[in-house]
Amino acid sequence: MGVRFRGWGIAVPDRIVTNEELSQTLETSDEWITERTGIRERRIGGSAKTLGVLAGQRAMDDAAVSAEEIDFLVLATTTPDRIAPATATMVAHELGMSCPAMDVNAACSGFMYAIRTAQGLLETGNKRILVIGAEHLSRWVDWSDRNMAVLLADGAGAAVLEFDPNGTDLLSFSLGADGSAADLLTCEHGGYFEMDGKEVFRRAVRFVVDSAEKALVSAGISSDDLSLVIPHQANIRIIQAATQRLGIEMDRAVVVLDRYGNTSSASIPLAFDDARANGRIKSGDYALLTGFGAGMTWASAVVRWSR
Ligand code: UT7
Repeated sequence: MGVRFRGWGIAVPDRIVTNEELSQTLETSDEWITERTGIRERRIGGSAKTLGVLAGQRAMDDAAVSAEEIDFLVLATTTPDRIAPATATMVAHELGMSCPAMDVNAACSGFMYAIRTAQGLLETGNKRILVIGAEHLSRWVDWSDRNMAVLLADGAGAAVLEFDPNGTDLLSFSLGADGSAADLLTCEHGGYFEMDGKEVFRRAVRFVVDSAEKALVSAGISSDDLSLVIPHQANIRIIQAATQRLGIEMDRAVVVLDRYGNTSSASIPLAFDDARANGRIKSGDYALLTGFGAGMTWASAVVRWSR
């Protein structure tokens, strides 16, 4: 009994903001941003709803399913268009759905938390679920604060998950949260994102490595068996440090932060889409999906592609 990934879709705003452009208004440089983060450019625009609708529709098209065939919509976002209602309800309406729809907020681990939620819903009677990660982080960035402005960006990614009584793509999960770290990365009502970058960095590497090791053990495989790592895209140095500790060469990691920056809950599906577009996902391959974020939260999953 399990869950299959049936279709994927992404959406990013057209507007590209380069490091050079940010350097014109901030005391920063392309060299600093590229060296310290790996980010070269990012996409800015849209909203969680508009990007979520586009990505969701593309995932349904890819899976060849209609709105009536979706039983539940789970939308991960840190940046809902409004506090109420949930962005998921508006996205569902735009997509022509009348099924249950709700938001999940686990910050940058959001897409993984949403998949975990969808798995539970599928194993308890639902047939097909649309999972979306959609973010409008640029709305909550103080564009005069170089600490955050160079990192965060907008985008969305989505997947259709389907119940399968005969097998599963999702082999294991390891999720967690540590609210004692809540003040390290915050966005207050009416405020902007603020972060103790160094401390988030330090903990992120530890959480990714710990949860990845747990997920690998519970899937009964080792890091050598992984064809691909699809990590949250916050900083190339975090990806390098975590993969090194896990004994995984960087050429097995998918990196898209150079083009998209940190898009929080959209980053893992954006990376997945890139891997797929480049023929890096093959049937039978094992992949590790792993993320971390404000909370702090973290989540790793081992997947075996069947498609
Ligand atoms: O999605 C989950 C949340 N996000 C993350 O996971 C991000 C985690 N943290 C990081 O990625 C890194 O800590 C940052 C990229 C945020 C910062 O990199 P760092 O290597 O930790 O730099 P730092 O904060 O230690 O700053 C080094 C220097 C400082 O100057 P001084 O004090 O050495 O004179 C900063 O003021 O770099 C300065 N600095 C900048 N310089 C140019 C900080 N931001 C910038 C900037 N441009 N944008």
